[in-house]
Amino acid sequence: MSVRGLGPDAGPKAGPDAKAGGDISIREVTKIYDPDGIHVVAVERCSLEIAAGEFLVVVGPSGCGKTSLLNVLAGFEDLTDGEILLDGKPIAAPGRPVEPGSDRIVVFQNGALFPWKTVLENIVYGPMVQRRRELGRARQAARNLLAQVGLEGIEGSYPAELSSGVQRRVEILRALINEPRVMLLDEPFRGLDAVAKSVMHQFLLDLFERTRLTMFFITHDLDEAIFLGDRVVVMTTRPCCPKLVLQVNLPRPRDHRALGDTRFLELKRAALEAVHEEALKAFRAGERELA
Ligand SMILES: Nc1ncnc2c1ncn2[C@@H]1O[C@H](COP(=O)(O)OP(=O)(O)O)[C@@H](O)[C@H]1O
Ligand SMILES: [Mg+2]
Repeated sequence: MSVRGLGPDAGPKAGPDAKAGGDISIREVTKIYDPDGIHVVAVERCSLEIAAGEFLVVVGPSGCGKTSLLNVLAGFEDLTDGEILLDGKPIAAPGRPVEPGSDRIVVFQNGALFPWKTVLENIVYGPMVQRRRELGRARQAARNLLAQVGLEGIEGSYPAELSSGVQRRVEILRALINEPRVMLLDEPFRGLDAVAKSVMHQFLLDLFERTRLTMFFITHDLDEAIFLGDRVVVMTTRPCCPKLVLQVNLPRPRDHRALGDTRFLELKRAALEAVHEEALKAFRAGERELA
């Protein structure tokens, strides 16, 4: 199998122009929970164009609507208004049931591995439930993926026997085996210590260099956002829509030295200012709601 440049039969690195697609167009999307009852406007007239093979990072105050937007993109939630296209085809529009497809794969915030299954069984789970691949082939593909990222030898281990950093890597491989065009990550490294996080960053950047999947990555951590992203979008406080879009003009491949680059520090200052402004607004709105 070949996962966008990650399989054994993969040729040279897939570049950003790899034809597997992953172009996302978010058009004037609004998401209101319970429009006739509690009426929470989580996302309002949010528009974003994400190019195939782009690493887009979303930051914003807690509760601003980031996860809501990701859930709409994933097909877990319907949207109230607007539309979303993937490679030119509508995947979400009001009143239309959306099928969560394996073309968009979510890596969740908290460990989502089945504790009673081994690493290998966890990774092959997706292709097996979708009956997309015969078991022997799926197992071989999983072993290849593990070997590609230097994790051979843990196939038979159970999640509890692994460090949280290794568990996260297995979760990402479990998503990759489905050959998605887009990977949706909702604060995937939250809760990891600084060292484990930095290992994860390098892992994800290496994967990105090799696969060039479209990444939609949510985080609270501005260093993480700038280190990983091609663009960082700072969202407004709820309802969420883009407030500031920062182009991260740091060359790839990146390593930890990028963190000391003056461009990095400038971008961080701009992002911090925008996030702080929105967090203050959220705080004041909270005070008003409580008053
Ligand atoms: N299923 C739901 N029903 C009602 N309100 C919800 C639901 N999910 C999220 N919300 C509300 O929508 C807002 C945005 O939430 P969320 O998208 O989780 O924000 P973030 O991910 O930025 O922290 C919050 O006010 C939250 O309470
Ligand atoms: Mg969230």
